[in-house]
Amino acid sequence: MSVILEVNGLTKEYKELRAVDDLSFQLSENEILGLLGPNGSGKSTTMNCILSLLKYNSGSIQIFGKEMSPSAYDIKKDIGVIFQDVAVFQELTVYKNIDYFCGLYIRDKKQRKQYIEEAIELTGLEDYKKFYPKQLSGGLLRRLNIACGIAHKPKLLFFDEPTVAVDPQSRNNILEGIEKLRDNGASVIYTTHYMEEVEQICDRIIIMDKGKIIAGGTSDSLKELTKVKEKIIVEVPKLSESKLDKLKESQKDIDIVYQHGMLTFTYKDGSDHITALIDRLRDTGIRYTRIYSERPTLNDVFLELTGKELRD
Ligand SMILES: Nc1ncnc2c1ncn2[C@@H]1O[C@H](COP(=O)(O)OP(=O)(O)O)[C@@H](O)[C@H]1O
Ligand SMILES: [Mg+2]
Repeated sequence: MSVILEVNGLTKEYKELRAVDDLSFQLSENEILGLLGPNGSGKSTTMNCILSLLKYNSGSIQIFGKEMSPSAYDIKKDIGVIFQDVAVFQELTVYKNIDYFCGLYIRDKKQRKQYIEEAIELTGLEDYKKFYPKQLSGGLLRRLNIACGIAHKPKLLFFDEPTVAVDPQSRNNILEGIEKLRDNGASVIYTTHYMEEVEQICDRIIIMDKGKIIAGGTSDSLKELTKVKEKIIVEVPKLSESKLDKLKESQKDIDIVYQHGMLTFTYKDGSDHITALIDRLRDTGIRYTRIYSERPTLNDVFLELTGKELRD
């Protein structure tokens, strides 16, 4: 598989703050690479440096095998960027907005018309072609923003947190659309602080914190990094201190937390602890309304590597 993007030793400082710290990674053709990290971890700065929108202190960036620079227009024409902040023209309709952005790259009218229709279909905006941006909900506006960024069929796409504050229907549309773009041959950098999203659509994930890569791999390989093997969550509306103490006393090697009516048991080895736990709960006389087992999450990985949660 060919390498579409290669970042080597990228470092960016804002005065004293090192926002991106010696970052190196590659993006392969036909891959969705997720940059997962909490707010302020350097995702947008990384993206803007790669795109030559920001000057950086050191490092090198190769796109399509060529050196990226502010004047590398032959590279830029094959790149699509969807920024977190929506940037569309208020005085143009949905259709005309997409037409404008697509027209920056695609001169042929007939071809452009077809590309616009395809972008509209991918983002599910068929019923809104004649609407103006101010008539659209937040989610639809985000979808228009995406349609404008992808209509010219770029080979390399950057999405910066495209689902923040978006309704579930638009979120699904956006995530499915990005997968379709990948399936049609595009390569994608996807930044987010939502672990569920990278698990859903990314082929590979880089976890960032304080401008550094702290781990990388597939979702499964990342989860193998954690010492947590199984979590069992038990819904216990009422629990006396004495019963909790008794429980903790009887299972000293297991991490037990009671919070917001939920008892969480974290196991560092083995799996399928649920049967034994049901017996233990009965012996202790603890009544529960629900019990389920959970595999470790990327948040567990992040927590173990950094000592803090992905989302605060
Ligand atoms: N223009 C700027 N000037 C100074 N500091 C900045 C600027 N932009 C971002 N930062 C800081 O750089 C760090 C990384 O920010 P950013 O790349 O926006 O993170 P993310 O996109 O992961 O939320 C943060 O600490 C942020 O406050
Ligand atoms: Mg950001």
